[in-house]
Amino acid sequence: MIEVKGLCKYFDGKLVVDQVSFHVRKGNTLVLLGTSGSGKTTTLKMINRLIEPDDGQVIIDGKDIRDHQPEAIRRRIGYVIQHIGLFPHYTVSQNIGLVPGLLRWPAQKIQDRCRELLVLLSLPEDLGNRYPHELSGGQQQRVGLARALAADPPLILLDEPFGALDPITKRQIQQEFDQLDTLRQKTMVMVTHDVSEAIMLADEIALMDKGKIQQMGHPKDLLFAPVNDFVRKFFDAQRFRLELQVIKLQDILAQVSVEPDKQVNEHQVLVMDQQTGLLDVLEEMERKDAVFVKPIDVQQKSRLLLSREELLHAFYTLKQQFKST
Ligand SMILES: Nc1ncnc2c1ncn2[C@@H]1O[C@H](COP(=O)(O)OP(=O)(O)OP(=O)(O)O)[C@@H](O)[C@H]1O
Ligand SMILES: [Mg+2]
Repeated sequence: MIEVKGLCKYFDGKLVVDQVSFHVRKGNTLVLLGTSGSGKTTTLKMINRLIEPDDGQVIIDGKDIRDHQPEAIRRRIGYVIQHIGLFPHYTVSQNIGLVPGLLRWPAQKIQDRCRELLVLLSLPEDLGNRYPHELSGGQQQRVGLARALAADPPLILLDEPFGALDPITKRQIQQEFDQLDTLRQKTMVMVTHDVSEAIMLADEIALMDKGKIQQMGHPKDLLFAPVNDFVRKFFDAQRFRLELQVIKLQDILAQVSVEPDKQVNEHQVLVMDQQTGLLDVLEEMERKDAVFVKPIDVQQKSRLLLSREELLHAFYTLKQQFKST
């Protein structure tokens, strides 16, 4: 869907984006992760021509973006700006209806779409007539997302879409975001410097430093097989938590052999989806005072019960396996 080749950008004679290349498959999410000033926003803005590259190429759906007017490209790509960037003198509805308006949708269709998006993003319907300063930070962030989704673009660029939120609201919106079906089908490039968010939402992570991609791959690759010291150190502060987050119940299931049913009380058992990360599983077991977790798949076939010890044992085995391959 997107192919970026050898992108370079100089500011004041300094190379701030240095030979950045990646591709993102349709429906996947690439997270650009990195320290402040590493060139994430600049890279993102070169994808929709808000910034013109000094070198390199961006190809979207097989077409070089230089062959199209910047305005035409931006109408086809959703964009969530760092620091939200709603227009202060436009109401919420006017902000959301911006791109549909430019695309000359009929007024009624724009109005319907606004209402639909407010519901989708769990915002009160009467919010439409208010101005951005009359909203909480979390609401503004949701409106920013609604605006990017308004014309239903297949490709969305997001620059720290949850940056301005307190940890509790942030986690809630991240989870909703992860579960929105409309978003799962989109191709997304998302910038963040929150590693936990990156691991939660990314199909692939590109970790940047000094304008260069240091490593790109599945979150597991970056955590368990870092290519250099920068990559290793970047995750070190929260390494254990992140490793528990990236390993899913499903990965554990492939590890353990099926035993006969254990003798247990039902209230000791916590039922969880196989897609859940180990960190959430262990935290939930702690909260609910559960002794075993029962992973379920779509067909609800699994009869396996796993204790904390079994989970952690499988976790360390998996980690070892990953490191040695
Ligand atoms: N318009 C500009 N003119 C001059 N220098 C710029 C401009 N925009 C960005 N830079 C510089 O380019 C570098 C990369 O900036 P960029 O905004 O891409 O970083 P970032 O990775 O998004 O950082 P952050 O996480 O802080 O948002 C920085 O050193 C920044 O100071
Ligand atoms: Mg930035």
